Amino acid sequence: MIASIRWTFTVALVAVSVASVAPAAESTAEADRQAVQQVCGHCHTVDVFLNKPRAWERWNDVFADMTQRGATGTDEQLTRVTRFFLENLTLVNVNSSPADELKWVLGVRDDVMQTILARREHQPFRNLEELRGVAGVDGQVLEQRKSRISF
Ligand code: HEC
Repeated sequence: MIASIRWTFTVALVAVSVASVAPAAESTAEADRQAVQQVCGHCHTVDVFLNKPRAWERWNDVFADMTQRGATGTDEQLTRVTRFFLENLTLVNVNSSPADELKWVLGVRDDVMQTILARREHQPFRNLEELRGVAGVDGQVLEQRKSRISF
């Protein structure tokens, strides 16, 4: 099954379970962006990280660091920030990244993710074309995010 990603953002350990967050529609995406502005644009501009994708593990290091420096937000804001980073700024490898990260970057449902996991176990994906061939994978999403997807 797909595990939840927990980002322990505040000292009070406000845990955000990404698995409970629905994929972002257009208006949601805008609200997510605003939450990032509010939570992360407080002490420096968001230009220090926008368009600079990293692996999710690295982001967790940054979140921990920023929390220490005083970054905080409501549960809803942190949920939005988490989703924004996963959908827009996270690097993945289709054949080795954890399922919960991949699911967000590829923008696929749980059942589609299961198909991808089963397939990669016995035959690694070699390129985007092969991934696009999996039923339920959105070719447009892949095209938009391809610079963050490796094999
Ligand atoms: C309470 C103030 C504060 C908030 C809020 C804050 N930061 Fe920072 N951030 C800093 C400071 C101070 C530095 C400079 C650290 C340095 O130069 O060593 C920094 C530096 C950074 C850097 C560059 C250093 C690195 O590790 O690459 C990134 C990226 C970053 N912040 C991301 C974020 C993100 C993402 C958020 C929201 C989750 C955030 N920041 C919220 C204070 C803050």
